[in-house]
Amino acid sequence: MTGTRRGELTIHDDPAALSAGIRTLRRAGRPVALVPTMGALHAGHRALIRAARATPGASTVVSIYLNPLQFEFRHDLDRYPRRFDADLAVCREEGVELVFAPSVAAMSPSGSDTTVVPGALGTELEGASRPGHFIAVLTVVAKLFGIVGPDRAFFGEKDYQQLVLVQRMVQDLRMGVHVVGVPTVRDTDGLALSSRNVHLDGEARAAAVALSAALNAGAQAGVHGPDAVLAAASDVLAGQPAVALDYLALRDPQLGPAPQRGPARLLLAATVGATRLIDNVDLHLGVADVALDVNGRGGLRCSGRC
Ligand code: PAF
Repeated sequence: MTGTRRGELTIHDDPAALSAGIRTLRRAGRPVALVPTMGALHAGHRALIRAARATPGASTVVSIYLNPLQFEFRHDLDRYPRRFDADLAVCREEGVELVFAPSVAAMSPSGSDTTVVPGALGTELEGASRPGHFIAVLTVVAKLFGIVGPDRAFFGEKDYQQLVLVQRMVQDLRMGVHVVGVPTVRDTDGLALSSRNVHLDGEARAAAVALSAALNAGAQAGVHGPDAVLAAASDVLAGQPAVALDYLALRDPQLGPAPQRGPARLLLAATVGATRLIDNVDLHLGVADVALDVNGRGGLRCSGRC
């Protein structure tokens, strides 16, 4: 499939061929904007692609690679949605120029055993529930950066801990990539868009709204301080027995300990039905003069279809 052209889109599965194609674009003076994905593209990915395409003069590269190493459980990997043709249609509609869709063998050839290990944050929150997850994520992101050599790379704020860890990796390893966080896209009732949402049946889908409702309640309690935030969010979650909470955590924006006042991030993970979901929101602690509604800071920002 190396260098297959479908319409305006060129699809590469060979890392060396992609790197060569990108070098050609670079010689024409064009910056490269990368959107790393695992496929099953939805409106949240479209927002990432649109942000990438807003980079002046840039060629946009979307990688579609379902990284098996970042799944702890085989059944989770097996049931992850795969929709390659539909993904290509999305890329075409969004004006993407290059898709990189490598095989597992191309990304992890036998004998390759170097990994990127994050600091302590990699073992907290998602990292505590999913040991080794962020090693697998950072390693594949570092490989993608090595193959693509992007000037900018776009990641969703829904995976907020991933975004922070990628930003740290780029800074600590002097990778020279500008990492851009893109606000979470939400369904009309507030549920954060995720490829995993397809697994929510009617009852679980209805219950899942409690996640964003809890975050919103927490954000609105920010003016009363950290304890009030956690209490407000916990109250909402306690009212929905179908939601099995993994963690609810209040941190500073870099995911260090939460301050008493100022900007903060409220994050949670929960299993609803058989599906594990994560979500988060930014908020202000102890600040009275911020908008506290669903469209502004201090509440869920509905940048998509809300
Ligand atoms: O967020 C994702 O889709 C994945 O973790 C990523 C960044 C593409 C790495 O596999």
